[in-house]
Amino acid sequence: MSVKETLPQPETEEELKRRIDPARLPRHVAIIMDGNGRWAKNRFLSRVEGHRQGINSVRDIVEIAAEIKIPVLTLYAFSVENWFRPKDEVNTLMKLLVEYLRKELERMLKNNIRLMSIGDEAGLPPEARKELRYTIQRTAGNSGMILNLALNYSGHQEIIMATKQIARDLQAGKIKEEDLDEKLFSQYLFTRSLPDPDLLIRTSGEMRLSNFLLWQLAYAEFWITPTLWPDFRRNEFLQAIISYQGRERRFGRIKEE
Ligand code: IPE
Ligand code: IPE
Ligand code: MG
Repeated sequence: MSVKETLPQPETEEELKRRIDPARLPRHVAIIMDGNGRWAKNRFLSRVEGHRQGINSVRDIVEIAAEIKIPVLTLYAFSVENWFRPKDEVNTLMKLLVEYLRKELERMLKNNIRLMSIGDEAGLPPEARKELRYTIQRTAGNSGMILNLALNYSGHQEIIMATKQIARDLQAGKIKEEDLDEKLFSQYLFTRSLPDPDLLIRTSGEMRLSNFLLWQLAYAEFWITPTLWPDFRRNEFLQAIISYQGRERRFGRIKEE
């Protein structure tokens, strides 16, 4: 017997797809794309090369998510804290964003993907902002998957922004204090039109939220992989979905008999 016959073979994409129950897909998958820098360092390359390679994973994951009909995919692309990285790296990330949007527009239109973004758009460099606005507008009529990019995003800032607007609306008499509940509060967040994520994926093994969707992830299932973002591709995404479908979500209740 050859070694090949004795070792369990990794499942193919088709096999993985067959194990997914289309009736129980997460409505919203959020991903903290982490590990570009480490991927590059392992290869004695500059961090920027890691980000460049990371774009290929973005393409792959957007494509497979749309293919299996995930309704909403949110990608954490740039945090408010990421401005504190070296200027060169920040500039490259912004340049890559513009490049990605330009290159992907055709494919988004072809795949019926609608782009949206969350975060402080006004704080983005003018060119990135302009390209983002343009792509959002061009894909606005699409009815397939929503690709939501978190750009210049901070969970704390989002909650403060919401709270300030609520204070103004209370003062103006637009809402009443007794009406303020979780549902109304959610309407003041960037994600107002979206369901909360059912599944959070983080690559590169870090066990933290890094200020991502703090309100919205209250009951999300977590799936953390040591794989670095540039190595995270279609099959591993499918594995995450399969793992999610095997979970028992209790929402504080007890298992139904
Ligand atoms: C994620 O990779 C990309 C962004 C945060 C924009 P990192 O650049 O954080 O990679 P590591 O964590 O240094 O490996
Ligand atoms: C989170 O990754 C932000 C993004 C993926 C855009 P970081 O690499 O910035 O997070 P920390 O610094 O490890 O918490
Ligand atoms: Mg990181």
